[in-house]
Parts: sequence; C-alpha cells; structure tokens
Amino acid sequence: MTVTHLTIPVLNADHVLARFKELRSKQPVSYAAFYSSQLGGIVTDPALMVLPFDDHMVHRGHGIFDTAGLINGKIYDLEAHLDRFLLSAERSKLKVVPSRHEMRDIIVKTTAVSGRRDGAIRYWLSSGPGSLELTPAAGSEPGFFVMVFAGLVYPERWATQGARVMTTTYPIKAPAYAITKATNYLPNVLMQMEAKELGFDTGVFIDGDGHVGEGSNMNVAFVTKHAILVHPKFDHILAGCTSLRLLELAKVLCDQGLLKAIEVRDVPVAEARASREMLLTGSSVKVVSIVQWDDQVIGDGKPGPIAKALLRLLEEDMRNSDRLIDVPY
Ligand SMILES: Cc1ncc(COP(=O)(O)O)c(C=O)c1O
Repeated sequence: MTVTHLTIPVLNADHVLARFKELRSKQPVSYAAFYSSQLGGIVTDPALMVLPFDDHMVHRGHGIFDTAGLINGKIYDLEAHLDRFLLSAERSKLKVVPSRHEMRDIIVKTTAVSGRRDGAIRYWLSSGPGSLELTPAAGSEPGFFVMVFAGLVYPERWATQGARVMTTTYPIKAPAYAITKATNYLPNVLMQMEAKELGFDTGVFIDGDGHVGEGSNMNVAFVTKHAILVHPKFDHILAGCTSLRLLELAKVLCDQGLLKAIEVRDVPVAEARASREMLLTGSSVKVVSIVQWDDQVIGDGKPGPIAKALLRLLEEDMRNSDRLIDVPY
C-alpha cells in the first residue's frame, strides 16, 4: 500500500469556525435564524448552524421534521403541523423533550429573532448524539432544532402554465414510513432528480396496487370528469396539512355548484389519467395545476378553474383565519 504525500491539517476550534465561514461564503444561504437545544439558544450566522456528526439523525436518519409557512409576519397552521410532528415522533420512537407548548414558543421566538416576515420554518427532532450504533446512545439527549429560511421556490411557470410530472420509476415508501415525516427522504430525492433529468418538473409515486400515491414533497389530487374532487387516502402517503385544509375549504366550491362532491379514497391510475384537472398541493407549492402527466395532457393542458379556486381559498385562509400566529418581532 502506498501512502500519498497529501497533507491533511489537524484543526483547532478557531480553524474549524474559519472553515465553516469559508464554506458558507462559497455557497451563500438564506438561513435567517437557527435554534438548537444542543446549543441552548439561537444563532443567526449560518456558519454556526451545525449538528454533532454522531447525532443519530445525521448518520442513521433517526429524526423527524416538519415545515410551516411564514406569511406576512404570521405563522400559518402551526397546530396542524405540530400535530403531525408529534405523531411522527411517536411513530419513530423519539423522545419529545420540550413540551408542545415549549416547542411552539421556541418556534415563534426563533422566527421573531430571524426578522423574516415571509418564508418557511422547518423544525426537527433528533434522537441525539453519543455513538455510531443504531439505537439511540446511552444517555443521549434528543435534539430539537428550528430553522427559519426563505422557503422553497418553484418556477413562476408552474403557477402560470402548470407543471409537468412523470410517474417515478422508484418504488413508493412502505405505508409505515410514508405516513411518518422522518428525515429518510432518499426515494423523494431520487424521484425529484429523475424527473429533472428527464425534463419533467416533478414525479408521482404509484403504489403496488396501481393507485396514485403522492409527489416528492407534495400531495396530488384530481377533479374528475363528473366534477368530483378526489384525493388519495392518507393511509399510505403523508397526510399533507395543505391537502387536509383544502378538503375542508373545498366544501364552499360544492355549495357554489363548482364541485359535486369531495372524496378521499383509493385513486386508480386509469381514473386519475382521465381526470379533468390534476393538482399538486403542499405548504411550499400551495396549489399548482398539473397539465401533463408522462406523455398525456391533463384536461385541456391549461391550469384549471378548480385549482385556481382552491388556491384563492387557501391564500385567503393564509391571510385571514384563526390559523395564524402573530410573530412578536
Ligand atoms: C412526502 C410529502 N407528501 C406531502 C407533503 C405535503 O404536506 P404539507 O401540505 O403539510 O406541506 C409533503 C410536505 O411536507 C411531503 O414531504
């Protein structure tokens, strides 16, 4: 075996901080504030937004997360996202150290420190550092982290012309994992990379029985030829907070005669492909029409009226409802 002449420096704490700062200056990011229970406080310098390498969320994916929207200085629908967060924690056998009340408080205060009025707030629970084993290390303290950032941005074209999706070749997650918002997003990442490589905007999972699943970080829904809003059941996909809210808000469209009914059930691919409208829904994307699925045009190939009406209802809910928390800047 030959040893190369590569010199690897042994770094001290000052070097490490300098290297982290250098890394961030090479690749600027828009992270406005980060809370870490491990640090016991909030940092605003992205170079300091770090986790111990042996945290089991890092090397084993034993962690969960959720994301709530920040709109005009208000946090939208945080309670629904916290419900799902706590459910994911339970399903992942993660100890929840801060109480729900404390977590909400930390999220709101970190947002206030960030100064951001629009964007997103993502928070994680990790099983903590202490070993490179599989199960949580003896005496490990679960970590709670909050990041306030600009949020995910999609091309303007998605809103104006609609999105183009493909059926992913990657298998859908098994239901027990799909319903849990854990940090294991490998299938979601691969599906999104595949879609981009093949010239599509995003991908859709189909389950083993030929029913529609979900997107990479979004749900999908349909408007049938008979004006029925159909959403896949939430037993094998993530229960999107946006979809759940839209299913409520859409009742107004039934009252207005724009929809005949709303159904949450298995959606066979053949039925879905024949739909009048196909939608992507999610906290980051809100509501976007899908105008092409694989080589098939959906509806008349233009964003449809129900997608537009649902987006209006959601935006109104985000501006003016009892689901908003004022951030005390
Ligand atoms: C896999 C997956 N499905 C659906 C969604 C949509 O959920 P929400 O509406 O809560 O953003 C997300 C985003 O969190 C997701 O990651």
